Amino acid sequence: MVERSKKPVPIPVSSTGAENPGFVLESDRVKLSLPTGESAEILLHGATVISWVVDGQEKLFLSEKAALDGSKPVRGGIPLVFPVFGKSTEGPTAALPQHGFARLCKWELLGRTSEADTAIQVDFGLGPENLTVDQRNQWPYEFGLIYSVNLSISSLETKMLVRNEGSETFDFNVLFHTYFRIPDINNLTIEGLKGTSYKCKVIKSEAVEEEVELPIRSEVDRVYAGVPNAVQVKNGGETIFKVGRTNLEDIVVWNPWEGASKMADFGPEDGYKNMICIEAGAVSKWHSLEPQSVWEGSAVTNI
Ligand code: BG6
Repeated sequence: MVERSKKPVPIPVSSTGAENPGFVLESDRVKLSLPTGESAEILLHGATVISWVVDGQEKLFLSEKAALDGSKPVRGGIPLVFPVFGKSTEGPTAALPQHGFARLCKWELLGRTSEADTAIQVDFGLGPENLTVDQRNQWPYEFGLIYSVNLSISSLETKMLVRNEGSETFDFNVLFHTYFRIPDINNLTIEGLKGTSYKCKVIKSEAVEEEVELPIRSEVDRVYAGVPNAVQVKNGGETIFKVGRTNLEDIVVWNPWEGASKMADFGPEDGYKNMICIEAGAVSKWHSLEPQSVWEGSAVTNI
């Protein structure tokens, strides 16, 4: 756990990128790049990573109909889920929309926090002052989030720090809703889930995963609770992504299949064949955070 005495104040950054060649701030986004060609793009809206390029290839799926103007959550990239996963019907998060408010808010850019030719990190912050009055009323806790995105030559790390800045304990879920771009869902398998209990939302059931290499050949929406090791996404048996986690015990696997055609912001209609959501999170149970305490979790995807 990292202790930070208070939420950092935004650091002024160059909008031209002239002083930081690997870091460019535009009106609605931050662009990161390394001298070796890797790059990432993060919208201030939702602090949503919308692009990650390695070897000239885009690694994230972004719907061609995704709204990038803040009017709705981004359909693709890495939307952030906080403080609730899904939709609560009761308890302190019941008034919040599906997946909470973090993906809906405009985050503060806190600045670039590391410098090296092989890695670059940028931090974003969110607190009650960034919420609308309605969102404040829906979840009236004093909190501070720091979200870090670290681009390195062959990996992308996302890290969330949650701090309780009030005098009341609160419960939360957190999750990185990562949409990976894949060559063909019909060649895809997922390794690393065998032996893990899961809840299936498609047929409302619970089971233990039996497959060493799980094929995805129809709609899937499962929450795997307490996944012990890294999860590998494979194309034709070859690993294309390896997702490691710290303090994020769960993995959600989601692909809407032909149901994508009913989603107004999903495109192209057969785009589900080129995506798989492998979502690292802490969602199968509530995490309780006492006043003045900090929680931190991270996920790193290696190519
Ligand atoms: C997944 C959920 O994480 O997100 C699914 O498990 C949900 O049930 C999906 O459909 C997409 O959610 P949304 O709110 O972005 O459409």
